[in-house]
Amino acid sequence: MADEQQIWDADTAQRYDTPGTGMFAPDVLGPTVDRLVALADGGAALELAIGTGRVAVPLAGRGVPVTGIELSQPMVDVLRTKVDEATIPVVMGDMTTVRAPGRFSLVYLVFNTISNLLTQAEQVECFRNAARHLAPGGRFVIELWVPQLRVLPPGVGATVWHEEPGYLGIDTYDVLEQRLVSHHVRFGEGSDAQLFRSPHRYVWPAELDLMGQLAGFGLESRHADWSGAAFTAGSTSHVSVYRLLDEERTPSRTGPLP
Ligand SMILES: C[S@@+](CC[C@H](N)C(=O)[O-])C[C@H]1O[C@@H](n2cnc3c(N)ncnc32)[C@H](O)[C@@H]1O
Repeated sequence: MADEQQIWDADTAQRYDTPGTGMFAPDVLGPTVDRLVALADGGAALELAIGTGRVAVPLAGRGVPVTGIELSQPMVDVLRTKVDEATIPVVMGDMTTVRAPGRFSLVYLVFNTISNLLTQAEQVECFRNAARHLAPGGRFVIELWVPQLRVLPPGVGATVWHEEPGYLGIDTYDVLEQRLVSHHVRFGEGSDAQLFRSPHRYVWPAELDLMGQLAGFGLESRHADWSGAAFTAGSTSHVSVYRLLDEERTPSRTGPLP
């Protein structure tokens, strides 16, 4: 986990929020929060990797009690400039293991963050930890991109997934280990550039569903976005909703695999 703590340091935390634009744009956040309010179904929500509260703060503002789990103190320090501990309590630690007090009707993990866990075992543990926090019938929601391997010709190890003046987003792939590194390069007219890099383990939707099964979930729905657009072969990301199945159908939910 040391790497993740280095990545989400004070510098990154201070630059994370972009009020009104990017992931903070109303047309991104609005549908996200609307859907999460509906999925919480009148109960309390737990955000794994809550960060600076991009989603949690407006969700709490809609009357949903929200608790967070987060690894990075600098990210939580930014959250604390917006809301206090009584409004959104946060438990510091690793989302694969740490326990937040309470029972929730909704656990959610957005903005591709399950891919920050770099092994399959950790990703499965994350599902299991979500299950531990849920009341019977509760939901676990994941927002994740679809690996874009189809645009990677044989022999090519990188894709440019976004380009605009002064910014390049480049992914380099290790298809053997099912990993990639995202490089965010910001530059001006001169030779200076700023680089932010993050490692990920990419996951196919079907693999995610199997992780859900191992932790006692069934897939309730999958859409291409928060507004409910159909998920198709051409979709580049998805919002997947898992529902905790009955105890008798899930003997391995909290224990070791049979
Ligand atoms: C892309 S940010 C997402 C933050 C927030 N959920 C959002 O949507 O803006 C990823 C966050 O995941 C946190 N993180 C990464 N690995 C984690 C782990 N194993 N346990 C808890 N938090 C983790 C990072 O510290 C960072 O705050």
